[in-house]
Amino acid sequence: MKTMSITILFWLLSMLLLSDKSQTSKTEVKCNSTAKNYSLIPANISKNVTILDLSYNQITLNITDTRVLQTYFLLSELYLVENKVTNLFNNSFSNLSNLEILNICRNSIHTIQQSAFTGLHKLKKLYLCQNKIVQLNPKTFLPLKNLILLNLHGNLISYFDVPQLFHLEFIILYGNPWNCSCSLLNLQNWLKTSNVTLENESITMCSYPDILKCYNIKTVPYKAECYSKFPSSITEDLHIPFQSISNSTFNNSLNNLTRNSGRSATLI
Ligand SMILES: *[C@@H]1O[C@H](CO)[C@@H](O)[C@H](O)[C@H]1NC(C)=O
Ligand SMILES: *[C@@H]1O[C@H](CO)[C@@H](O)[C@H](O)[C@H]1NC(C)=O
Ligand SMILES: *[C@@H]1O[C@H](CO)[C@@H](O)[C@H](O)[C@H]1NC(C)=O
Ligand SMILES: *[C@@H]1O[C@H](CO)[C@@H](O)[C@H](O)[C@H]1NC(C)=O
Ligand SMILES: *[C@@H]1O[C@H](CO)[C@@H](O)[C@H](O)[C@H]1NC(C)=O
Ligand SMILES: *[C@@H]1O[C@H](CO)[C@@H](O)[C@H](O)[C@H]1NC(C)=O
Ligand SMILES: *[C@@H]1O[C@H](CO)[C@@H](O)[C@H](O)[C@H]1NC(C)=O
Ligand SMILES: *[C@@H]1O[C@H](CO)[C@@H](O)[C@H](O)[C@H]1NC(C)=O
Ligand SMILES: *[C@@H]1O[C@H](CO)[C@@H](O)[C@H](O)[C@H]1NC(C)=O
Ligand SMILES: *[C@@H]1O[C@H](CO)[C@@H](O)[C@H](O)[C@H]1NC(C)=O
Ligand SMILES: *[C@@H]1O[C@H](CO)[C@@H](O)[C@H](O)[C@H]1NC(C)=O
Ligand SMILES: *[C@@H]1O[C@H](CO)[C@@H](O)[C@H](O)[C@H]1NC(C)=O
Repeated sequence: MKTMSITILFWLLSMLLLSDKSQTSKTEVKCNSTAKNYSLIPANISKNVTILDLSYNQITLNITDTRVLQTYFLLSELYLVENKVTNLFNNSFSNLSNLEILNICRNSIHTIQQSAFTGLHKLKKLYLCQNKIVQLNPKTFLPLKNLILLNLHGNLISYFDVPQLFHLEFIILYGNPWNCSCSLLNLQNWLKTSNVTLENESITMCSYPDILKCYNIKTVPYKAECYSKFPSSITEDLHIPFQSISNSTFNNSLNNLTRNSGRSATLI
């Protein structure tokens, strides 16, 4: 009995070592086809490609591209910076289960369908900067169980619900027209209570209302009535318009902010 369990233990150990070896010996196969004026993702790249850079082309990431992408399932890094992507369709990357970095910055993405990121369960870094994203459904990020970094800088986002990303360490949100009405209170609480670092915090400013333009979204003080609304209902009730605040209520709400934040934090 004892010898058998020892044998099993050794077998397990050797399996572990073997799998570890295959992991480290996994070769990097790079294909760099930047600035080639491609309008489609080339289908003739080696299927063992792990790093693919197709930046500065004319790729739209339509259904034709999606089909080709599925064949490059060993990809760990995909760069599509400065192409012609306007939509991210459901299941666009569904076969890329090894992908860790996806960079689609500087396109014209305005729509991201809810299941666009399905299958990307190893993704660690997602760059969507400098696009035309107005709205994001927090459910879109659900498949990204291992996401560490999310870059959304330079879009048209004014409101963002708390993303359900438990391993996220860095988020980049500057250069968006943030509407610091009560509706952004949830995001602020999350930024304060989770372990996420808001990169470039000092330039992640409110655009609206005018009176709060000199504040960043993490430290902007909220009116007390925002807190009394919170957390009764996350999406509906919080969309109450922000009224301009007088000097004294401003200071009061600052006081109430610190007093209430402890309580709100436990409710997240
Ligand atoms: C591809 O080549 C360009 C131009 O030489 C370079 O800037 C870029 O970093 C390369 N991409 C990768 C993934 O190495
Ligand atoms: C790039 O491709 C488009 C067609 O997709 C063509 O009209 C254009 O002339 C090409 N530009 C260059 C610089 O080759
Ligand atoms: C995808 O885009 C390319 C280039 O713009 C085009 O040639 C092709 O027909 C498109 N495919 C579909 C299915 O629309
Ligand atoms: C793939 O095809 C394109 C033309 O569509 C060609 O320019 C390129 O050299 C080919 N690449 C490989 C790796 O064969
Ligand atoms: C990748 O595949 C190509 C054929 O498509 C082959 O020539 C090359 O040796 C392979 N490279 C690795 C590292 O497996
Ligand atoms: C999707 O990936 C699997 C391996 O994970 C591969 O066997 C299959 O051929 C890929 N699908 C396509 C359409 O290439
Ligand atoms: C995309 O996926 C979502 C959820 O999986 C679904 O509700 C939606 O209808 C899909 N959109 C399209 C255009 O298929
Ligand atoms: C933040 O990190 C600390 C230590 O790394 C951990 O104990 C704590 O649970 C984390 N908090 C959240 C909200 O993830
Ligand atoms: C954002 O922060 C990074 C370091 O955290 C810095 O290198 C970069 O210059 C900053 N960007 C801007 C626009 O300030
Ligand atoms: C601050 O909270 C106290 C009760 O805790 C409340 O009476 C007061 O009206 C609040 N201040 C503002 C500006 O809402
Ligand atoms: C900001 O949000 C509030 C409440 O949701 C809304 O009433 C207001 O119109 C928004 N302002 C802008 C400029 O989007
Ligand atoms: C409050 O009022 C004083 C004088 O009226 C002014 O100097 C100060 O900037 C105001 N503070 C805020 C936060 O509006």
